[in-house]
Amino acid sequence: MSTKKLLILAGDGIGPEVMAQVRRVIDWMAKKRHIAFDVSEGLIGGASYDKFGHPLTDETMQDAFAADAVLLGAVGGPKWDNLSFDVKPERGLLRLRKDLELFANLRPAFVFDALAEASSLKTDLVKGLDIMIVRELTGGVYFGQPRGIETLPNGERRGVNTQVYTTSEIVRIADVAFDLAKKRGNKVHSVEKANVMESGVLWREEVQKLHDAKYPSVELQHMYADNCAMQLVRAPKQFDVIVTDNLFGDILSDCAAMLTGSLGMLPSASLGAADAKGNRRAVYEPVHGSAPDIAGKDIANPLATLLSFAMMLRYSFDMRAEADLLEQAVKNVLDGGLRTGDIMQAGKAKVSTTVMGESIVREMDKLAG
Ligand code: NAD
Ligand code: IPM
Ligand code: MN
Repeated sequence: MSTKKLLILAGDGIGPEVMAQVRRVIDWMAKKRHIAFDVSEGLIGGASYDKFGHPLTDETMQDAFAADAVLLGAVGGPKWDNLSFDVKPERGLLRLRKDLELFANLRPAFVFDALAEASSLKTDLVKGLDIMIVRELTGGVYFGQPRGIETLPNGERRGVNTQVYTTSEIVRIADVAFDLAKKRGNKVHSVEKANVMESGVLWREEVQKLHDAKYPSVELQHMYADNCAMQLVRAPKQFDVIVTDNLFGDILSDCAAMLTGSLGMLPSASLGAADAKGNRRAVYEPVHGSAPDIAGKDIANPLATLLSFAMMLRYSFDMRAEADLLEQAVKNVLDGGLRTGDIMQAGKAKVSTTVMGESIVREMDKLAG
């Protein structure tokens, strides 16, 4: 097997802290399993702005193109909040997604048994929960034109963003969702606001057409985004796969995160189209941000990033045994009672980011024998 090229972009805030725990796992894999990744590191977000005056340089973008997969920490923070839009840290991440054409963002919200009580919902509502949010990632209001802030003749200022979707953008993301549903619970909720937005009407029509033509055996329900937010906290187990646009997907996945106990638990995979050999461009990234409120204290939860790395092993590198091993280690460590401070559960041992990372590696070692 050729050495896999992995680009790590740790970013800002807690990004480098949680990424250091992934490095432990990578080191363990090299030492104990003789799996060597060709790992390089680059800057993104505020860290890149501070060094180069830009949140993602062309050189780093080239490195991302050359990599087999990218693992991202998080970007942003108050230090850079007042920069102009074109150099904000978040623009680095948006460029990475857009230029690599990563249109499909898979955000699984999975409740570990040990954390069912830590959910902000009643335990029985979330025990066994396993939802996959399929978020469109390169279109919609995040990228639509026109956009900007302008001053009107009367001196008023006007901020503009535009929600745009084309048929092909809708069909390719819906295709990902239906395909995934067939391998899971065979149910898709397609979420938009067709009651008030034309782009939502088009979304609904195209999803329905694709369903009827290619996936008639998958159960399909259309749902308005506001209702979906309510249903997620009322009865989340009704969902299997949720497919939705860029903005609704961003919001609904943060919401789904709390069902699992913490935003610090949610991994994600941002994928492009498969080439002739079935390979896809991919960035793996936790759903959470740079958490400036807790950065630098060694208290962030590294599990979302470790689980994102597990998704990378599974989806990009076909290393199922190693992905299983890492996920099993996470489960066992949680079963054993260790928690970072974001998880509210009485009677559990509070540990630092570092201790959580070390514990996961120790558990992998034990499991691997
Ligand atoms: P955030 O996700 O950074 O934090 C929200 C809350 O969740 C905070 O209280 C934080 O402490 C907590 N939290 C998040 N991740 C955690 C973890 N792993 N362990 C423990 N607690 C965790 O969202 P925010 O505060 O709205 O945004 C902060 C910055 O991050 C902003 O600049 C925003 O643009 C950026 N952001 C980046 C990404 C990304 O890089 N993918 C995602 C979301 C937000
Ligand atoms: C996320 C983040 C990003 C988004 C920001 C930081 C650009 O919130 O990955 O969920 O809105 O997509
Ligand atoms: Mn978000």
